[in-house]
Amino acid sequence: MFNITVRDTYEEVSREAAEIMLNVVKGTEKPILGLATGSSPVGLYQEMIRDHKENGTSYKDIITFNLDEYCDIPKDHEQSYWTFMHENLFNELDCPEENIHVPAGNLEDEEQACVDYETELAKYSVDVQVLGIGSDGHIAFNEPGTPFDSLTHLMELTEQTRRDNARFFLDENGDPDMDQVPKFAITQGLASIMRAKKIIMIATGLNKADAVYGMLKGPKTEDCPASILQDHPEVYVFLDNDAASKL
Ligand code: F6R
Repeated sequence: MFNITVRDTYEEVSREAAEIMLNVVKGTEKPILGLATGSSPVGLYQEMIRDHKENGTSYKDIITFNLDEYCDIPKDHEQSYWTFMHENLFNELDCPEENIHVPAGNLEDEEQACVDYETELAKYSVDVQVLGIGSDGHIAFNEPGTPFDSLTHLMELTEQTRRDNARFFLDENGDPDMDQVPKFAITQGLASIMRAKKIIMIATGLNKADAVYGMLKGPKTEDCPASILQDHPEVYVFLDNDAASKL
């Protein structure tokens, strides 16, 4: 079931998404948070940091699980999702490092790493999961064609996703460098994500409009992985006018 909010600006989208998140954090004894990287949730994370600093909301008892991680770069690479999460959220909160889970991408045995991550995740019940959506309709790194019953797995990234992410991998002239963009990621599967009790989906910008349409109004199909959310009982979708322009 979708609860859709459309706002004029990214700031408003982020503020309202943060209300859902903060209600969970403040209203749950030991909140389990599912977190995403990418540009979409950065404003939400800023709101969480602001609330923590201004109101003293504690994150000492939270446990977090991130959705995904690149495989072919080290954990401390400046573009790893581990680094991203620390720079954009964890370093500013009081959550213990041992409560943070980000899939380990750079491992000898990636298949085993997938099984281990899924096993750990399955011990918990995620109270709220943050999601963004790719311009091809992916959620986490589940690209079109990923089975709806997938668990944590290895994914070869599509050309389109690699192109979308090239803006973070720059050459010495500051231009996007496709050669540096990783080709594989470890990602929670679609069935893993669907177990979360609540989902916050944030999408802004015209390049998301088709994917947003597919998620909300299109047929439920593995060609648009986000369309699986049509079966979830509680999805809060926050859009700006551009992302909502095809609805
Ligand atoms: C990131 C993730 C991806 C992004 C998606 C949108 O952990 O799982 O699915 O949410 O690629 O990325 P942005 O927000 O950068 O447009």
